[in-house]
Amino acid sequence: MLCLGIETSCDETSLALVDDKGLVDQITFSQVDIHSVFGGVVPEMASREHLNRLSPLYQVLMRRSGAQKSDIRAVAVTRGPGLLGCLLMGLGFAKGLVLSLDIPLVGVNHLHAHLMVPGLEKDIPFPALGLLVSGGHTSIYLIKSPLEFVLLGRTLDDAAGEAFDKAAKTLNIPYPGGVLIDRFAGFSSPDEKLFPRPYLDNSNLDFSFSGLKTAMVYHVRDNQDLVLQDDLPVNHDLVPPEKLALVCASYNWSIAMTLKTKLKRALDRNPVKSIILAGGVAANTMLRRAIKDLAREYQIEAVIPDLSLCTDNAAMVAWYGRMLINQGLCHSLDLEAVPRGRPIPRDYLKLDLKHPHLCNCS
Ligand code: KG4
Ligand code: ZN
Repeated sequence: MLCLGIETSCDETSLALVDDKGLVDQITFSQVDIHSVFGGVVPEMASREHLNRLSPLYQVLMRRSGAQKSDIRAVAVTRGPGLLGCLLMGLGFAKGLVLSLDIPLVGVNHLHAHLMVPGLEKDIPFPALGLLVSGGHTSIYLIKSPLEFVLLGRTLDDAAGEAFDKAAKTLNIPYPGGVLIDRFAGFSSPDEKLFPRPYLDNSNLDFSFSGLKTAMVYHVRDNQDLVLQDDLPVNHDLVPPEKLALVCASYNWSIAMTLKTKLKRALDRNPVKSIILAGGVAANTMLRRAIKDLAREYQIEAVIPDLSLCTDNAAMVAWYGRMLINQGLCHSLDLEAVPRGRPIPRDYLKLDLKHPHLCNCS
């Protein structure tokens, strides 16, 4: 069956079609260029952009994939966490589609979708430990099955992606800074003493990255020559000054090693068959290497998605939504968006194909 996925939780408008074998086609419009002028996502502008983009992207996806409307058997949409206005745009579009096509709707937890997307490429051995690292989240989950997630630890303040982005801002590296810090880090070896590995002196599985960000602010205050000049064209060919490369490598190393240390602690307490790395920061070179090393040490599988599936995308929403539908789970047209910071209820309904989008009334 074809499942259409819709992702609008932040600054990517993305639509994808998956079938039982995997990804059929995906189309994504990234708003990064629009928001980079402001140094971060402007929620009102992001919502408006989703509204403008969704319908044309849907038309291009249908034309390009050759799929017929009648081939689409379900719509999966990100229902949270995310920016409320952005989520509402995706939900409104999804509800319109299921009404007109008379097919079921399922709301997808964006975080679970990130963690399960490697399943598109290969089978995930369960139980698994999942490290979700994005711009808004840094969490460790014990994943007993695709439907059973137990939160073991989370950040108490900034997410790892925020730590990258805020450090980048301090260095005048354009948004989203994580990508460029990663690239600049490749030009140097880390100085392991330059930045702290924060919040390790305890026995828990939580994180705290706000102190690390402050350490960068103090370091840059004392080394103003690190700050990139405004007139420098910061593109993907830029070779960073040596001193900046060293700072990026050292900062990146502190984040990657902090994540690895807590994950190792989680592995010692929870015997699992695999480690899943997910979220935008899963694209980070040093972190990918650290997780592969850890998996080798524990003789378990490292499940790391292709770079194209790390940042926000609709393939992960369609894939996880299809899995939920196949389990007989769906939502009614009452489905609500859940903004960041609020728990996502497990409020699935039993799928009733006779009344696909009114299944709460049956
Ligand atoms: O999952 P995501 O696309 O959006 C959400 O936050 O939900 O993650 C975006 C985050 C940003 O903070 C970005 O700087 C970071 O992922 N990121 C990276 C890399 N690529 C993206 N951080 C470090 N290294 C990268 N290669
Ligand atoms: Zn995300």
